[in-house]
Amino acid sequence: MTDAIQLIINALLFILPAYFANGAPVVFGGGPPIDCGRKFPDGRRIFGQGKSIRGFVAGVIAGVFIGALQGRWAAGLLLALGALLGDLLGSFLKRRMGIERGGAALGLDQLGFVVIAVLFVLPVEVPTLEIFLVLLMITPLIHLATNFVGYKLGFKDRPY
Ligand code: CTP
Ligand code: MG
Repeated sequence: MTDAIQLIINALLFILPAYFANGAPVVFGGGPPIDCGRKFPDGRRIFGQGKSIRGFVAGVIAGVFIGALQGRWAAGLLLALGALLGDLLGSFLKRRMGIERGGAALGLDQLGFVVIAVLFVLPVEVPTLEIFLVLLMITPLIHLATNFVGYKLGFKDRPY
């Protein structure tokens, strides 16, 4: 196998719990929102209707489950928490910029969760700079591809 393919596989295995934590809410989310409908002083929602308690819990469980399968309990939990809190931070920033729930924020939507997930996992696993850079390149492509599949399967009402 070429070095490049091996590097991409290593990067995917490293980040896998974060990907599952980010994807699980699309399938299992819904119900009461994390911000309980509350608004920020700017008059807009804190996080918005797209960030549900059930989605967050499902994401943590999915990430921990994948991490456990890989024999990386702590890393799985930290990657999942980082991915979900990063996603929440992304929604908070989008609301502050006046982007409504479901609106696109190119870059933030595709990369925010993965950057925070990597920061969270650092206390137990430090990826090489190569792996981190590969993640910055492949995550947007994988995010857009999986969102499109989720849209086609009827889990999402927008293809991005
Ligand atoms: N979701 C959820 N709970 C979460 C995160 C996501 O229930 N904590 C579900 C919601 O149904 C959401 C979908 O996953 O609509 C897709 O997530 P995302 O694209 O992050 O949310 P958006 O609806 O696009 O909202 P935002 O504009 O805040 O990103
Ligand atoms: Mg979205």
